[in-house]
Amino acid sequence: VSPAVVEAIRSGMTETPDFPSEGILFRDLSGLFADADGLRTVAAALVEGFGPLDAVAGVEARGFVLGAAAAVATGHGMLAVRKAGKLPGEVLSESYALEYGSASLEVHPSTLPAGARVVIVDDVLATGGTLAATIRLMERAGWDVVGVAVVLELEALGGRAALAAATAAPVKALL
Ligand code: PRP
Repeated sequence: VSPAVVEAIRSGMTETPDFPSEGILFRDLSGLFADADGLRTVAAALVEGFGPLDAVAGVEARGFVLGAAAAVATGHGMLAVRKAGKLPGEVLSESYALEYGSASLEVHPSTLPAGARVVIVDDVLATGGTLAATIRLMERAGWDVVGVAVVLELEALGGRAALAAATAAPVKALL
């Protein structure tokens, strides 16, 4: 990862203790999203090096910002992986565990052709539940996950192992 990418992330990130609840250190990338050069640089770095692609997949909500920026920066379309209940008609749905309860992600299987090569992007890899569910969704839709990329990996939460159980594709974290 180039020093310019690391610097853009560090200068665009805030860390807030005890948000949204006690004991959580919340990392927010709103400053990076608002930095034109930083957003372009970081988004392009996310998806580079995975070989030929057909689309960039971004996970609602913060993955939409990075995914759309990465897609535009590299001349691809963006696949929006939606939270439950947002898409009409027949959808594929995959659930994942939250600290309390569960959540689901959804796509329309007709959004991309079968065999489309996608890189999945998001802001943070924590437990890996969100991205593992996204990988399962891509596979059920018939799309080929060629890589997973995040800006921040919180190593202590074990997300990388959760993703290794879900895909053989490489997982890249910029920080
Ligand atoms: C956050 C973050 C990742 C996910 C990581 O999303 O943007 O998508 O959690 O956590 P995990 O690895 O433990 O699954 P959140 O669900 O808060 O959604 P948001 O982007 O809409 O704020």
